[in-house]
Amino acid sequence: MAQQEDVFKKIVSHAKEYGFVFQSSEIYDGLAAVYDYGQNGVELKNNIKRYWWDAMTLLHENIVGIDSAIFMHPTIWKASGHVDAFNDPLIDNRDSKKRYRADVLIEEAIAKIDDKINKEVAKARKRFGEAFDEAMFCETNPRVQEHIKHREALHQRFSDAMNANDLDELKQIIIDEEIVCPISGTRNWTDVRQFNLMFKTEMGSTADGAMTVYLRPETAQGIFVNYLNVQKTGRMRLPFGIAQIGKAFRNEIVARQFIFRMREFEQMEMQFFVRPGEELKWFEFWKQTRLRWHKALGLGDDKYRYHDHEKLAHYANAATDIEFEMPFGFKEVEGIHSRTNFDLSQHEKFSGKKIQYFDPELNESYVPYVIETSIGVDRMFLSVLCSSYEEQQLEGGESRVVLHLPDALAPVKCAVLPLVRKDGLPEKAREIVNDLKFDFATHYDEKDSIGKRYRRQDAIGTPYCITVDHQTLEDNTVTLRHRDSMEQERVAIADLHKIIHGRVSLNSLLRKLS
Ligand code: GAP
Repeated sequence: MAQQEDVFKKIVSHAKEYGFVFQSSEIYDGLAAVYDYGQNGVELKNNIKRYWWDAMTLLHENIVGIDSAIFMHPTIWKASGHVDAFNDPLIDNRDSKKRYRADVLIEEAIAKIDDKINKEVAKARKRFGEAFDEAMFCETNPRVQEHIKHREALHQRFSDAMNANDLDELKQIIIDEEIVCPISGTRNWTDVRQFNLMFKTEMGSTADGAMTVYLRPETAQGIFVNYLNVQKTGRMRLPFGIAQIGKAFRNEIVARQFIFRMREFEQMEMQFFVRPGEELKWFEFWKQTRLRWHKALGLGDDKYRYHDHEKLAHYANAATDIEFEMPFGFKEVEGIHSRTNFDLSQHEKFSGKKIQYFDPELNESYVPYVIETSIGVDRMFLSVLCSSYEEQQLEGGESRVVLHLPDALAPVKCAVLPLVRKDGLPEKAREIVNDLKFDFATHYDEKDSIGKRYRRQDAIGTPYCITVDHQTLEDNTVTLRHRDSMEQERVAIADLHKIIHGRVSLNSLLRKLS
């Protein structure tokens, strides 16, 4: 685990060093949990968004996109439940003055018990070798049994407290479990309080009685309140979907793990409106479809798993997360939720407008049910970055850092490199750039040795380096170097476009989905 944390630190500094992600407001010592995307990061991020957008809107003729405003009427957040219930339970340590999420402190305590059980199992496996029976060992070993009982009781007590919204009980669990502040090491805790995660601001001048508005904590509500507009103007028939990509804001209490949990982030959400009673069939469909979208990137099928929710929000009748194996464990990247007709019904109630669909086949009107797919762009970015990063030892004692980015997502698709900065090679290289740049993000680089230039491109994940040498001037061929294998082949300049297009285009990735 410590080794994985080390790798994660290296990935974070690599992201900065190569212009992917910077701390926001860095020259003013930064702003916690807010990040900026640099010259390579923005391209990678845009490619991820394009992949999602095209997979939704081009491959499904019944899905259309919108772009709703970040500011919305404040009653929307009353209707959606965010004003009353979009809270995290927080607790402060009086000595370190640090703030924590009470639920996270308890979850970490549960994870520590899991670690103890796993350690006992690993020790026993080593001792007994081939003959080891894990289930039997766990049932009979007194120490493991004690840990299991402790874990089960704690888990039960914790979920009862969360379900009952019992903040005193959460504090009592923290005291009984002797949980200490990781900074001060003390148990000098305040009471647990609810903390609403929405950012507020004022709209209009205070003289006219300004209105409190919120920065949206999810993009989904912009879709719900436009349901009628899109359905009517697009003459959409059920089932159909509305997709949107945009910023969301949450005043996260504990913001950690780089861009995994941010206060300003981006979501790609799609609400799929269906006939009541058909929602679980569509839930299953979207569960499969979304996992296929992830796996088509080739980051490794074993890096994904579903996490079906046992505890559902009161309005949901099914929910699952797609988790990805980050260096700090399996973590949620996307949520797929069957949200019944909760949101549209709430907006009917609060707006006083009828939000219904007339179903010509059934000859009746109803409020559609909704399946939602919701993925964080930044988490997706992090999963791509982490799984692409590799430090390789090469022959001759050399090493390189390479990002094995999926070709279609790479910020730069090809780099054109004159072998030397004379003899007409730069001019020839420029000619190639001037042709390729209309279709591919193309770099030109003539500085430093060719080896150093290859390393720079490897570090940002450029799939192809095209080297122009003296032979190029004679026969119009170049060497094409492949990022992952470092193999080189001699190809005609005239064939470059076709070869590169075949491997880096989004088109070939999208084709894997249909
Ligand atoms: N409309 C449903 C919704 O917003 P969510 O599970 O709260 O559901 C969906 O968020 C996705 O948004 C998550 O799976 C995650 O990828 C991303 N996300 C949520 N909070 C985030 C944060 N603070 N920082 C970065 N990404 C976040």
